[in-house]
Amino acid sequence: MGNPRTHLANSLHLHSLPLSIADMPEVLTFIESNLDRFRAELYEFLRIPSISAKTEHAEDTRRSAQWLADRMRDAGLEVEIIETPGHPVVLGEWRGAGEAAPTVLVYGHYDVQPPEPLEEWVSPPFEPNERDGRIYARGSADDKGQLYMHIKALEALLTTNGSMPVNVVVLAEGEEETGSPNLVPFVETNLDRLACDVVLISDTSMFSEELPSLGFSLRGLAYFEIHVSGARSDLHSGEYGGAITNPGNALAHILATLHDKKGRVAIEGFYDDVVEWDSKTRAQIESLPHSDEQYREELGVKKLNGEHGFSTLERLWIRPTCDVNGLLCGYTGEGAKTVLPNHAMAKVSFRLVPNQTDGKVRDLFEKHVQHVTPEGVTVQINELHGGRPWKASVEGRYFEAATQALEEAFGTTPVLMGSGGSIPIVVEFEERLSAPVMLVGFSLPGCNLHAPNEWLPVENFERGIGALALLYQKLAN
Ligand code: BES
Ligand code: MN
Ligand code: MN
Repeated sequence: MGNPRTHLANSLHLHSLPLSIADMPEVLTFIESNLDRFRAELYEFLRIPSISAKTEHAEDTRRSAQWLADRMRDAGLEVEIIETPGHPVVLGEWRGAGEAAPTVLVYGHYDVQPPEPLEEWVSPPFEPNERDGRIYARGSADDKGQLYMHIKALEALLTTNGSMPVNVVVLAEGEEETGSPNLVPFVETNLDRLACDVVLISDTSMFSEELPSLGFSLRGLAYFEIHVSGARSDLHSGEYGGAITNPGNALAHILATLHDKKGRVAIEGFYDDVVEWDSKTRAQIESLPHSDEQYREELGVKKLNGEHGFSTLERLWIRPTCDVNGLLCGYTGEGAKTVLPNHAMAKVSFRLVPNQTDGKVRDLFEKHVQHVTPEGVTVQINELHGGRPWKASVEGRYFEAATQALEEAFGTTPVLMGSGGSIPIVVEFEERLSAPVMLVGFSLPGCNLHAPNEWLPVENFERGIGALALLYQKLAN
């Protein structure tokens, strides 16, 4: 335990460049001597099952917002809990740097994904447990742990120095995991309050344990439920089998038409809006230390597979996909039941890249499904989530500041990386607030986001707080 702490201080001292970090030693000492408390507080946060998708957890989700608001207030922010038609937004402000100083908008989410399947968890999802230098709990990485790092960095600066060189607005929402249905209206009605020079988000991963990272992209999302219905009720599969279209067979057929043999999405027009990425970005991706063999081994698959003509990282970051996320049909209990189900359902999601939009993908998908659906069944498609993809212009003084802060805190120059996941509000922030967005993530590939046994490295929690404290100072220069 002692080791990573001294490491943080050492790396910052070793790399102290001529910057505004004259006061940093005290800030770092504060962080180091309060780490046990920071971690105990994070555990309290993680114990609240703020599962935004489940109505039975609505009160827990609210309690989580309240808890966060209290801690943000303790850190020295002015805090308001603002109601929305769904879960509330927690808004914290510190504007002591004055109007001439830059304003940073920090975004994160206090809601989490459902923890199921529970039996797969080594320790219960809402009882944080530290093993092998990892904090295991739902939300440790996505996103409570990372959001809390910002609060602690701000606390360290405000307690030690009494002020910061930048104004800070923290916006924490409780509906990210359900597609942020109320956040765009919230942003629209609070444009003045959210006005900022740069948006800072820690809700992504680093490329690897050794490499701090800045994100250059996020994929968009178009998520559908497809229902196939047939006869009035389930039927004996011997008595009726062969005379009607089985909705299960029909759905399987539909799903099988979604890809061609080269791993491409076989929907007409699907690639029309996909932009060719610039050679600089592709070279950047190419230069990252990735091993297909190691990746394959880690995932436990026989072979990696995807769109022909692209590397694994390209497939993950700059190419769109179509995937079945869930299937429901017929008899799945013990033993055999000879039955023709009268209904089949699949959850199908598309990850999108610039300049695809979920609206257009919906139209193309609907047209395709209509075209390939066998006669004799009815299909209905419902859209669950949509979100646009995003590509950063990774340049300018704020990116310089982030690069330097990460380099000093981790002792290594950060890499630029894409992300396969989606944070749909990012494009909206960029457009509506006219501010660049920076993704500075501290979880790792393999942290089991949305899966059983989610974890965050203790070391990243510690170092990340230092890195962010430094970054807040550097954003002023
Ligand atoms: N933090 C993730 C997004 C993410 C994960 C980005 C890993 C980069 C790397 C976020 O909480 C998330 O899970 N987003 C959802 C989309 C949302 C609309 C449900 C996603 O990507 O599935
Ligand atoms: Mn997240
Ligand atoms: Mn998530």
